[in-house]
Amino acid sequence: MAKIRMGILGGGGGSLIGPVHRIASSMFDRFEIVGGVFNPNWKDNIRFAKKIGLNEDRIYKDLEELLSKERSLAEDKRIEVVSVLTPNFLHFPMVKRLLEEDFHVICEKPLTTSYAEALELKKLREDKQLIFAVTYTYSGYPMVRQMRSMIQDGIIGTIQKIDAQYYQGWINPVIHDPESRKKVWRLQPEKSGQSCCIGDVGTHAFQMLEYVTGQPIKSVLADLNYLYEDNVMDIDGTVLLRLDGNAKGVLRASQIATAEENNFTVAIYGTKGHLKWAQENPNYLYHGLEGSPLQVLKPGHEYNSDAATQSTKLPPGHPEGIFDAMGNIYHGVADAIANNPREGSYPYLIDGVRGMQFIECVIQSHKSGNQWTEIK
Ligand SMILES: NC(=O)c1ccc[n+]([C@@H]2O[C@H](COP(=O)([O-])OP(=O)(O)OC[C@H]3O[C@@H](n4cnc5c(N)ncnc54)[C@H](O)[C@@H]3O)[C@@H](O)[C@H]2O)c1
Repeated sequence: MAKIRMGILGGGGGSLIGPVHRIASSMFDRFEIVGGVFNPNWKDNIRFAKKIGLNEDRIYKDLEELLSKERSLAEDKRIEVVSVLTPNFLHFPMVKRLLEEDFHVICEKPLTTSYAEALELKKLREDKQLIFAVTYTYSGYPMVRQMRSMIQDGIIGTIQKIDAQYYQGWINPVIHDPESRKKVWRLQPEKSGQSCCIGDVGTHAFQMLEYVTGQPIKSVLADLNYLYEDNVMDIDGTVLLRLDGNAKGVLRASQIATAEENNFTVAIYGTKGHLKWAQENPNYLYHGLEGSPLQVLKPGHEYNSDAATQSTKLPPGHPEGIFDAMGNIYHGVADAIANNPREGSYPYLIDGVRGMQFIECVIQSHKSGNQWTEIK
């Protein structure tokens, strides 16, 4: 099978998420990276492209050059899908142009810097047969997919309580000094968008809750923390959640949870039992069943669902991690591009759009004095 020709925007030397995407795209031998724009500085761009062994002919100074040169190539040579791995404010203008020129898109989260932009992308893509993934990485883990399958199969009964916590501490060393803050793009609204903590990690938690439960969150009541009067970006937040019926929950996100690393956990409680998963120990899924001893499920076993099994490459006891989770998302995208889509195998454009709606509703709730705000 011919490999899918892939381009990359961003993700150059020193970037956080670039290596994750490059390694993930190679995992199932379905993609070939052929070119891109890795850095806005030409020297850094070309140096990095050479370092990873790419042909200089397909390294471009910016997106417009990439589009015009690639569009002039024969269809069987042209880049088919572009991964957008730049800081947030560049997602919307880049993705808009890619859709206008009919490229499939894989875009980092948060999708845009506003809900209005996200809706514009959704509209632009409506009449096109283009695959669009938003890389909420954690939904690629096999035991998250197992959790989703078990909830779908009614194993924990009717959902009554949901709980997600995403605690990091990396902003603590920079937030107390206004000069240090200026060096972090995530704390600058013009680069990051309207939110830091909720946009960066809160949206992961929101997508995770909707992904595993299969249920939309209907309304939120938020209390954000900015810590200092002269800091305009939230760095911590607690959000109460309401689903349909009487199911309720809480989403706790922080980047000033001092000395926490990437402590992302999700727990879903139903009428019969619960399921609990933690990102820092991702190969264990805890299943508590009323009146029974706690069970621990692991990847690679026959008792897992098809979705979990398809997301596992190795026999039991070989730990898989974040690169594998992203690899599973790329695998889902490859199958979709090859006209063989698997439901839930990658996060969709609509997940990115809901993520932006969530951010705006949370900010609105906080600013209105902690009012319940509907996610319509
Ligand atoms: N899915 C996840 O778990 C996850 C994790 C980390 C980051 N992210 C997302 O990935 C994106 C990038 O984050 P990061 O931490 O890797 O950022 P980063 O600052 O580490 O890297 C950004 C990269 O973009 C490049 N870049 C900047 N402007 C560019 C331009 N005009 N053209 C081409 N390249 C350009 C930079 O050279 C750099 O290589 C953000 O949207 C972030 O939210 C997602």
